Amino acid sequence: MKRNQWEDHYTRQARKERWLARSVYKLQEIDRKFRIFARGDHVLDLGCYPGSWSQYALGKIRPRGMVVGIDLKVPDHLSDPRFRFLQADILTLEPESLQDKAGSLNVVMSDLAPQTTGVKDVDVARSMDLVRKASEIALKMLCPGGRFICKVFEGEDFQDFRAEVSSRYKQVRVFRTGATRKKSREIYLIAKGFHP
Ligand SMILES: C[S@@+](CC[C@H](N)C(=O)[O-])C[C@H]1O[C@@H](n2cnc3c(N)ncnc32)[C@H](O)[C@@H]1O
Repeated sequence: MKRNQWEDHYTRQARKERWLARSVYKLQEIDRKFRIFARGDHVLDLGCYPGSWSQYALGKIRPRGMVVGIDLKVPDHLSDPRFRFLQADILTLEPESLQDKAGSLNVVMSDLAPQTTGVKDVDVARSMDLVRKASEIALKMLCPGGRFICKVFEGEDFQDFRAEVSSRYKQVRVFRTGATRKKSREIYLIAKGFHP
């Protein structure tokens, strides 16, 4: 079988362990280091397709709890009674419209990534639009003490964004995961202890 050019150790391991994407190892590393999930948590997964982050979260919050995933694409290999999916463009989504579906949340996580163009400034700006929207949703929907994780393509607006997030959470860390490809500009912001 012809394998794609991006295949690496994490891709093969994900296939072997039946995860829906290699990106699961980024969330696993973040969770092991920063202890994101607890049993019974309500979680919102922004940019959830194909579903490995939701899959991972479902395993951590059992036996109760739930995950709501949002993406432009339908994660059709993920079926679990505690998973709900909304097909939508988050840039045009009203956070209020999520209230019925998701209620008050313990964790908002965003692995949203724009279609990259190869033009650095364009890709960084698009990533920043997505992450700002994810942060707006988190501010409206997290319960006190809630946690917010988001992927950002590092660029000149990053420090301002970090400062904005820091004003609303007790602890904010920046983390680059081992599973992130060497050439990638992606980093993760991990915020804990939301205070409305
Ligand atoms: C890196 S993938 C997420 C992988 C996922 N965390 C997993 O582990 O399976 C990024 C996702 O962001 C989604 N996305 C990008 N822009 C979006 C938008 N405006 N609204 C909703 N989803 C979007 C893409 O469709 C893509 O599925």
